[in-house]
Amino acid sequence: IHVLVINGPNLNLLGTREPQTYGYDTLSDVEEKCKRAAEAAGGRCSTFQSNYEGAIVERIHHAKADGVDGIVINAGAYTHTSVAIRDALLGVTIPFIELHISNVHARESFRHHSYLSDKAVAVVCGLGVSGYDYCVTHVCKTFKKRE
Ligand code: DQA
Repeated sequence: IHVLVINGPNLNLLGTREPQTYGYDTLSDVEEKCKRAAEAAGGRCSTFQSNYEGAIVERIHHAKADGVDGIVINAGAYTHTSVAIRDALLGVTIPFIELHISNVHARESFRHHSYLSDKAVAVVCGLGVSGYDYCVTHVCKTFKKRE
């Protein structure tokens, strides 16, 4: 199984950005753990981060040709605004898990709505950065290989 982990805007600042909310692990720590979790579950993991909505849309498009079987996406603030990212995920018909480090439902009300949740296989939030390992493992163990 090939998992693609996508991180959206500001997640390149992990480790220094509001550590009381997002923790002290850096993005490269998180990506390294994702790769190890995938390998431990017999899969492999590619990672991508961008602060640009269109770049995220295009990475999702390329996922099909890359043979990606499942996507774990933390779209950051675009979760709450982006019809384009929703449409890209639906357009490639690759199953995905929506992930948030923080419990978005315990925060400001504008974080309570997501353009992704109703189309996601699962939504994970509030587990801190450990959520990434869980999601990657879950994709490797339960998602089907695409033809
Ligand atoms: C986030 C939650 C979003 O509301 C926020 O804009 C982020 C990070 C999280 O991982 O908890 O950038 O997706």
